Amino acid sequence: MTDARTRATRSLFDGWASTYDDTVRESFGQMSCITFDDYLARVAEALAPAPGARLLEVAVGTAALAITMVRRWASSVHVVGVDANPHMLDRARNNVAMAGLNSSISLREADAADLPFADAFFDGVITSNALHHMDVGAVLTSMARVLRPGGRLVVGDFLEPPRWRSLLGRLVVPPFRFSMRFSSDPARRADGGYATILPWERWEEMLADRGFAVEHHVDFPAEGSPQWEPVPFIVAARRTGAAG
Ligand SMILES: C[S@@+](CC[C@H](N)C(=O)[O-])C[C@H]1O[C@@H](n2cnc3c(N)ncnc32)[C@H](O)[C@@H]1O
Repeated sequence: MTDARTRATRSLFDGWASTYDDTVRESFGQMSCITFDDYLARVAEALAPAPGARLLEVAVGTAALAITMVRRWASSVHVVGVDANPHMLDRARNNVAMAGLNSSISLREADAADLPFADAFFDGVITSNALHHMDVGAVLTSMARVLRPGGRLVVGDFLEPPRWRSLLGRLVVPPFRFSMRFSSDPARRADGGYATILPWERWEEMLADRGFAVEHHVDFPAEGSPQWEPVPFIVAARRTGAAG
């Protein structure tokens, strides 16, 4: 965990943890046609686990999605939430306790690319609003390993908007994003300068390479203005066990 992007991400969440729950809704709302809470509900619905399922949430943050899931399925599931940032985990522990869900949600510090669980341990793996901070391929490999064959993976993250591929986009976006690495605002450094924002075709390739069959994919672009912001999306995929 020592490369420049990891350091920027760590400092972003060291500084953001105490205000994350109050500010994430506004920043997400600028990029999407749905609210952050509706998006979390849609991510949770896409998993649709069987009663008693053992679920892993990667990059659990302050536990908003874990709490949404347990409330939705009336405590019939158990969620293990992992995150690399201890300050975000402190907020998560507080939110889980306040929600009275300590018996349904366990929290643990771990790197998403090196998940500390046995092969095929979970029935479902889920993540929201986080993989753009990481090496997506390494994390998908790690998630595939701990998910049982036939289990479902749900990822909510951000896609490259088609405009970044236009002539103007190719000229302007890379230097603009690189310049964000030198911003005094840690959120702009990590979210802009160091984020991995990939087109849908790349996600499809990476999922297929790790033995996932895509079942469902939906995008939530902001309405109205020209789409220069990354596009929130959700994908649900089944682990077939046959890596491509
Ligand atoms: C934008 S927050 C999203 C939190 C939560 N999933 C949500 O939707 O609100 C991204 C989270 O990813 C975590 N994170 C970043 N890199 C990580 C890594 N390599 N392994 C595990 N968690 C990581 C951060 O600590 C942070 O809590």
